[in-house]
Amino acid sequence: VNADLREITVTINGVTHQHAVEPRLLLVDFIRDVAQQTGTHIGCEDGVCGGCTVEVNGATIKSCMMLAIQAHDAEVTTIEGLSSNGELSALQAAFLERGALQCGYCTPGMIMASRALLRENPSPNDEEIRRGLTGNLCRCGTYQRIIEAVREAAAASQDA
Ligand code: FES
Ligand code: FES
Repeated sequence: VNADLREITVTINGVTHQHAVEPRLLLVDFIRDVAQQTGTHIGCEDGVCGGCTVEVNGATIKSCMMLAIQAHDAEVTTIEGLSSNGELSALQAAFLERGALQCGYCTPGMIMASRALLRENPSPNDEEIRRGLTGNLCRCGTYQRIIEAVREAAAASQDA
């Protein structure tokens, strides 16, 4: 047994994972490799692309910028945690409907970041959406459709 390993407990999408990890293990690697929630993507490992965006105790963060041990005892929500009983969240449905993706690599992070955006500002204009998503990059350049999807999800939530 490696004496440097630390035992941590992290709840991800309602499932508790107890695991001995190296102190330098990134939270994104814990999510993907230990919890097998591979919807959270790794693009840059440098806090730039936003592909690894998740929620930790309700706060939206880039999980490549946090160590797994820092999430000990925390509740993490990833893209997989947004749908319930197979039903997509308003944002997920709007991204799908608007075709707001090409390769889809950025999509989970975009949706997680959009959630944070709509929490703070439930009816953002296009400029506010653009600004709210500056921490997330789409290499396919589907920004316009992403903005439309966020706008549509915002409108759908207002109706609800
Ligand atoms: S992988 Fe975390 S921001 Fe790019
Ligand atoms: S859809 Fe390909 S990176 Fe955004």
